[in-house]
Amino acid sequence: MSNEGSRIPGFYRLSVDERRQRLRLCADLGEEDLATLEGGGLDTAAADRIVENVVGIYALPLGVALNFRVNGQDVLVPMAVEEPSVIAAASNAAKMVREGGGFLAEADPPVMTAQIEVVGVDDPVAAQARLEAAAEELLALAHATLPRLADRGGGARELEVRALRAHPHRVIVHVHIDCRNAMGANMVNTVAEALAARVAQLAGGQSGLRILTNLCDRRRVRVTARVPARALTAGPLDGATVRDGIVAASRFAEDDPYRAATHNKGIMNGVDAVVIATGNDWRGVEAGAHAFAAADGRYRPLSVWRAEGGDLVGRLDMPMAVGTVGGTLKLHAGARLAQRLLGAVDAQTLGMIVGCAGLASNLAALRALATEGIQRGHMTLHRKAQAAGGLLGAGVLEGPPR
Ligand code: MEV
Repeated sequence: MSNEGSRIPGFYRLSVDERRQRLRLCADLGEEDLATLEGGGLDTAAADRIVENVVGIYALPLGVALNFRVNGQDVLVPMAVEEPSVIAAASNAAKMVREGGGFLAEADPPVMTAQIEVVGVDDPVAAQARLEAAAEELLALAHATLPRLADRGGGARELEVRALRAHPHRVIVHVHIDCRNAMGANMVNTVAEALAARVAQLAGGQSGLRILTNLCDRRRVRVTARVPARALTAGPLDGATVRDGIVAASRFAEDDPYRAATHNKGIMNGVDAVVIATGNDWRGVEAGAHAFAAADGRYRPLSVWRAEGGDLVGRLDMPMAVGTVGGTLKLHAGARLAQRLLGAVDAQTLGMIVGCAGLASNLAALRALATEGIQRGHMTLHRKAQAAGGLLGAGVLEGPPR
């Protein structure tokens, strides 16, 4: 996409059909794609192949957040969400960040972790030594279990042995697996089950649980947003005042887990909407986010905002288990179209864009909270939603989308 590709001024004023025609031009969509947008990309027959006891399809609005520039590239960000103003708020915030050059993002390699539990271990220290000595054998067994992943450049990378102080007879083996462009849950669980018997034998105990951990802290995204103070100006409040209000709101979340939970909810507004639109497992992303937020024993915000050189700078760091292949993607045309819209060719790029949507949503919420509160913008869209037949959630928008 060109460097102005995600700026579509007045997009929100267009009719749905006109918006689709604009998208068609900037994202090279065909007739079939427009039909997918209309139908949601999943029919009952496909749904019936995905889950059990299907009786129909549950629909969500799909919108596109604008103004996003990530590592110098413009991206259109598809968001599936029922809460009014989330998409407008993310677009507004992305525009402010754009004035500071756009989001800078990086992603770890797509490493997920299998947990293999062994219980009834008499001598955990000796068990650990035996397991570590057998690391090469166990990694080879993991590779043999997933030969196609190795062909794609992924595979088991490292083995780690953990003991939990609270349970002296339990040993846990972690196998870190590079899942390439898959979210990886199935592959990781396959490895966990394939290795369990040998791991238990080496440890001298009985095999317990064998499953991935959703606290995938080796698969994180980090996003930075720098916003010039002038871009934050809100009505009578100058940019520096708004910047300082946002920093104070960040410090509140850093000091108080009750506030951190809501701060992180604002981040997940953006994160989940993109994760859902792209056909990914939002429960896994949620579980990872909150476990990571509490990893040092106290629940913390996933982003922090500071004043730096006069600008407002936000930094987000969170686990991000998303994929561009596998899962429901084969059967869900809507998810495939959403992935094409944002041009994410690999899981790491997708993860970075998801993180940017999270930080944008967070910025929009904090700016509204630090100024007039969220209710005025919310009520504007509340009325719109009511006129259309009912309100589905609370919003964080200050003014209409820009
Ligand atoms: C509402 O969906 C999200 C907010 O509560 C987030 C926040 O308080 O930072 C506005």
